[in-house]
Amino acid sequence: MADDQQQGRDVIDILSTDHTEFLSLIDQIRATPGDEERRDLADTLISELVQHSVAEEMFVYPVMQDELPDGDQAVDHDTKEHKQIEVILKQLEGTDPSDPRFDHLVNELEGVLKDHVSDEEGEQFPKLRSEIDREKLVELAGKVETAKKIAPTRPHPGAPNHEVFHKLVGPGVGLVDRLRDKLSGRSTG
Ligand SMILES: [Fe+2]
Ligand SMILES: [Fe+2]
Repeated sequence: MADDQQQGRDVIDILSTDHTEFLSLIDQIRATPGDEERRDLADTLISELVQHSVAEEMFVYPVMQDELPDGDQAVDHDTKEHKQIEVILKQLEGTDPSDPRFDHLVNELEGVLKDHVSDEEGEQFPKLRSEIDREKLVELAGKVETAKKIAPTRPHPGAPNHEVFHKLVGPGVGLVDRLRDKLSGRSTG
């Protein structure tokens, strides 16, 4: 049995844990007085949120599209929200924490993110759990974990994320499988 299966975490567990972490990072940014620490926390949030979104778009949204009755619509909506989020992240990246706009952007981000998270966790993820075999959801967890490690860390609001991903790691998502095997010390044979 593979490691992921032994740990029993499926892709929904991984993505939901990320969501909780993003919202807690936002709380930490607000509770932190020092500009340098706020910059560090914001940079962590930016890179992890971009990697999460790219991994979702590469591996989870295509499954939603194929397997959920209203999948096309849901993916279209979610992908647009990712771009909205990336526009804010791009601005946050270039704004000094001492600038009053920084807090404003953090608030704006929180609003869009909470909305997006409630769509995913409230509607799409439960449907994925009911439509897809657990084994496949666990396999997807591994792909998402690997994709997050190699995905871009900077927001690219003007380009589709799958293009940004392929530009960075090369064409074809098979690479993720090979990397995943390599990273987990598993042989592909
Ligand atoms: Fe998500
Ligand atoms: Fe998402």
